[in-house]
Amino acid sequence: MAKFEFEYTITADVEQLPAAERELAQAAFDAAKTLAYAPYSEFKVGAAVLLENGAIIKGSNQENAAFPAGLCAERVALSAVSVLHPGETVLMIAIAYQKDNLSEAMAHTVLSPCGTCRQTIAEYIARQHKPIALLLCSATGPVYKIEHAMQLLPFSFGAEML
Ligand code: THU
Repeated sequence: MAKFEFEYTITADVEQLPAAERELAQAAFDAAKTLAYAPYSEFKVGAAVLLENGAIIKGSNQENAAFPAGLCAERVALSAVSVLHPGETVLMIAIAYQKDNLSEAMAHTVLSPCGTCRQTIAEYIARQHKPIALLLCSATGPVYKIEHAMQLLPFSFGAEML
């Protein structure tokens, strides 16, 4: 039987993160709080991308009355990177969310990127030939650090298939 497994780091809350990661996570929370456009789901998502040149680029979900036209925070942030810092290497992406009236259990559940965003992140990794780490934040509790985003997309489809 074949088996797939990977290791990730759990930090109790944002305050316990090392300074650079804490700053990135806080940027993602700020993006969720101040930049999200989520009138339909009321689920506000923020992403913060750390670049090799030290810049932090934010993105937020941008919903649409025609629901499928909406965009996730991660893809908004990565598209912004492509036009604001073309060719710059992406080191890490923090993802955070904000929602009213969360249960205690939900407030401790981290936000993990949707399948389309995983595929989009995979394309950036392929383009830059360097891994991208992820910081998955819960609302008030733990943060998971995934060292290589491809760990969340095993058996992925990529350009080598075409
Ligand atoms: N959303 C994101 O922005 N990122 C994710 O990783 C998951 C989902 C957004 C899309 C939609 O605006 C809202 O969250 C509810 O699905």
